Amino acid sequence: MPIQTTEKIWRNGSLIPWEQATIHVMSHVIHYGSSVFEGIRAYAQPHGAAVFRLPEHMQRLLDSAKIYRMEVPFTLDELCAGVVDLIEANGVAPCYIRPIILRGYGEMGVGPKGCPVEVYIANFPWGKYLAGHGGADVCISSWNRLAPNTMPALAKAGANYMNSQLIHMEAEVNGYQEGIGLDVNGLVSEGSGENIFVVRNGVLFTPPLANSTLSGITRDSVLTIARHLGLAVTEQPIPRELLYIADEVFFTGTAAEVQPIRSIDRIPIADGKVGETTKKIADEFFGIANGLKPDRFGWLTPVKVDAKAAVTA
Ligand SMILES: Cc1ncc(COP(=O)(O)O)c(C=O)c1O
Repeated sequence: MPIQTTEKIWRNGSLIPWEQATIHVMSHVIHYGSSVFEGIRAYAQPHGAAVFRLPEHMQRLLDSAKIYRMEVPFTLDELCAGVVDLIEANGVAPCYIRPIILRGYGEMGVGPKGCPVEVYIANFPWGKYLAGHGGADVCISSWNRLAPNTMPALAKAGANYMNSQLIHMEAEVNGYQEGIGLDVNGLVSEGSGENIFVVRNGVLFTPPLANSTLSGITRDSVLTIARHLGLAVTEQPIPRELLYIADEVFFTGTAAEVQPIRSIDRIPIADGKVGETTKKIADEFFGIANGLKPDRFGWLTPVKVDAKAAVTA
């Protein structure tokens, strides 16, 4: 689906027209993949709209920049305020928010010294990411996730998404909605743009960060919700075959939200229907995000925009 444009983009502290937010083809980021970014959602509330876990996303953005030695001339608070200002200026919510920090136009060569660090934030309407209301049909990818000490998986860097593209394209070409990457040792890591959870015998499992997973904000939200609901939760390495014999499997991510999986490599997960635990967690997640349940963990940042419909409707 083509991007639905809005009026303004936040660039280095100022709101500029959407069409003017361009960079030169000789910018460092174009040649060497030097960017870090975020994906955030703002949800409709009964009155207005709210951004979901804004400070946590912006902290991860700053962490990603730190790993890549990018000096960011904005504080956490300034970046968060930038998102609120942008959404209110564009008057678009629910929406997806895309902050990106990149190395711009300056010198040629791998060393980025001499290329300015630039910060942009855009927002635009964006609905459901993965198709499949009754659950997605996915596969294990023939591509592994990033090996430790090669590309840092905890940094949400643009360059990591070359690996994600290989996983996602292979899955789509073969008729699946998404692919799951194994880590370099063959253990379950994550989807091309989602963390993964497994329910078996009443226990909720997810791979630890050491299995080349991104430290997902939705992953953290689901772990928090699960503990709040009194579920047994464990972060532990997951062998591939556990996926096939699971009672329930689901993806989590800002784009994918809580997305049930109904088959993996054409093997149905249990009876192929959305499981009870997945439903309970999804109800709580969407309830909080859409302001229909108490914001008991302090996850919402209100924005003054009249939101017409829930993003997941
Ligand atoms: C590779 C990868 N893993 C996991 C996630 C989920 O992270 P979050 O819940 O913070 O969106 C994403 C999405 O950003 C991702 O791209």
